[in-house]
Order: sequence, then C-alpha cells, then structure tokens
Amino acid sequence: MENKRVLVTGATGFIGSHTIVELVNAGYEVVGVDNFSNSSADVLKGIKEIVGKEIPFVEADCSNKKDFARVFESYTDIGAAIHFAASKAVGESVNKPLMYYRNNITSLLNLLELMQSETSQNVVFSSSCTVYGEPSPENLPVSEKAPVQPATSPYGATKQMSETILKDAVVANDKLKVIALRYFNPIGAHPSSNIGELPLGVPQNLVPYITQTAAGLRKELSIFGNDYNTPDGTCIRDYIYVVDLAKAHVQAVKRMFEVDSDSFEIFNLGTGVGLSVQQLVDEFMKATGVKIPYKYAPRRAGDIEKVWADPKKANEVLGWKAETPIDQVLLSAWNWEKKVRDIK
Ligand code: WQD
Repeated sequence: MENKRVLVTGATGFIGSHTIVELVNAGYEVVGVDNFSNSSADVLKGIKEIVGKEIPFVEADCSNKKDFARVFESYTDIGAAIHFAASKAVGESVNKPLMYYRNNITSLLNLLELMQSETSQNVVFSSSCTVYGEPSPENLPVSEKAPVQPATSPYGATKQMSETILKDAVVANDKLKVIALRYFNPIGAHPSSNIGELPLGVPQNLVPYITQTAAGLRKELSIFGNDYNTPDGTCIRDYIYVVDLAKAHVQAVKRMFEVDSDSFEIFNLGTGVGLSVQQLVDEFMKATGVKIPYKYAPRRAGDIEKVWADPKKANEVLGWKAETPIDQVLLSAWNWEKKVRDIK
C-alpha cells in the first residue's frame, strides 16, 4: 500500500505541531488543519524553521463540516488522519460540558464522514490515560488491559465516547482502520526551541507552571497535596517527552500503511516510570540550576493519586520506546520558556 498524505488536525497545537515535524522528518507528505482556537499561526513559522519548508495548511474548524470539507477538496490524496483537534482542559470541561461535547464529538464525526470518500481510511486518534481513571494497585503500571473507568470529567468522557464511536465505525466500515493512542503526561519542547507548549492564561499543567515560575511570571508553585499515599506524599505521573510521543504517531501511521494490522488497536504511550510532583520539581531545579519557590497547598479536586504506564505493547508492536532522559526533557521545556520570554 503506497504511503499517502497524512492529514493532521489540531496541527498548531502542542502535540500536533511536534508530530508534523516528525512526520516530515520521516518523509511523509502532510497537510495540517487548525482553527487557532487554542494556538497561534506563529507555530507554523516554528515548524518551517525546523523542517526548512512551508507545511501545507488549511485554517478550518473541524467541528464545522462544511469548513472542514474544504481540506478534502484541496487535497485529494489523503490516506491517513491523525486527529488531535479537541478541547482538552479538564477543569474547563467541568464548567463548559456542552462546548466540550459539541466540539470534541462533532469534530470526530465530521472527520470520519469526510474520510469515507477516501480510498484508504486510516485514523490515529489522540486519546488519554484519563480513560483509566484512578487505576487500582493491581492495575499499576497501567496496561491496555486495565479497565476503563467512569470518566471523572466531561473531557475524559469525550475521549471514552470517541473511542466507542471509532470502535463502532470500524465494525460498520471494513475500509477503516483505527489506532487509539492513550497518552500519559506529555511535557517538554522541541530541542530547537522553535515550538513548544504555549498555554493560554494561567497554566493548569505542572511543567508549564514550573517554567513560568522559573521565568518569574508566577510567584511560586503550589504543589497540590503532599498527603497522598505515595513515598513523598505527592501525586505520581508518567511524564513523557512530547518529541518521543510525536514519534509514536509516525510509527502508528507507518503500521497502518505498511502492515495488515487489526482494524482497531489501542496503545498506552508512556515511559513506564512514575515520578512524583516533588521529584519532578527537584529534577527541574537540578537540571536547570534554577530554584523554584514552592509551597504545599490543598489537594486539587479530581486529581488521580498515582498513574503510570506499562508501555510494553507499544514497545513491542509499534517498535517505539520513550527514551529521552527526564533532565533533558525538563531542560527543553526551560529553553523553550526562555525563548518565548526572551530570557538569555
Ligand atoms: C500533574 C500533577 C497535579 C499543577 C494532564 C492533562 C490530561 C491528561 C493527563 C491528556 C498533578 C500537580 C499541577 C500545579 C501541581 N492529558 N500540579 N501544581 O492532571 O495529570 O492531567 O495529563 O489527555 O488532559 O490535564 O496533569 O500537569 O495538570 O498535573 O501540584 O500548579 O501535578 O496535582 O498531581 P494531569 P497536570
């Protein structure tokens, strides 16, 4: 099966932009789509700086089918799609559930309907470890066999619903193949510092909050809870380098183009190593030499106590492994923050 163009929705987002770079590096033709609702067109300049050429791109809203259809009118050689376009702030989703269901579910339905006119229909779906909820001790590290638990936010519910929609779609359409990639905690930035994570407003996620504190934008970091049932009392997560994560998407596309794989596959994408908040803060200070003022604050509602991946299936079947050491990952995040804030 010849390799065809890869459509990347959410192309100027954190993971989408890094994935486009790795797809181009691997020799794939791409076309990016984004409506800039949670990103900036400047990201396209950053990608061009890295890969040395303009990326085919269409500004469109995936939740508007007529708008999204323009992409398929302009590019008639699409053979695979990596679907990142979705709203993704857990806290915001609790306050705006209808916006989350409309945007995330409609965008996916539009993609599936528009892909139906393509000869090869391969979809890589950006899913999340949030579908596992709080894994029970016997399910740690978390493999793909761990039970999916009731979602703890509308955001998490959209990821679970999307996987169900995809499962039903492949049953009804024997030309469709799907790989769902369940991410753990993506962090860091491209080593060139030309692209990275650019949260709008006050960062919800730990690493951008740390780097903004290091840059002096935030007075101090609040560590949400140090009374958990973990060695140092702070929550444990599996922090995965965004460039390693992007490379997993290239492996998934390659698998669907080149291997007669099952119609619906799921892979957990993590390092397999759990790090506590305290350990991550300490690692950041050690790797960068920058002191981070922090205090212990009350627990954050909805936080999982401990979750980290068993990445064996992705290692063996996708031929992929997250291998960047955490100090390099945190340095990449700090270098990106300094670039954005013009700190020498
Ligand atoms: C990590 C830890 C916080 C901020 C994220 C995404 C979610 C999913 C998984 C994609 C927690 C603590 C944080 C701060 C802190 N990814 N923390 N102070 O909650 O694991 O979820 O990754 O689908 O969508 O939101 O990541 O970075 O918010 O928190 O102490 O200022 O850091 O309590 O223990 P989380 P996070």
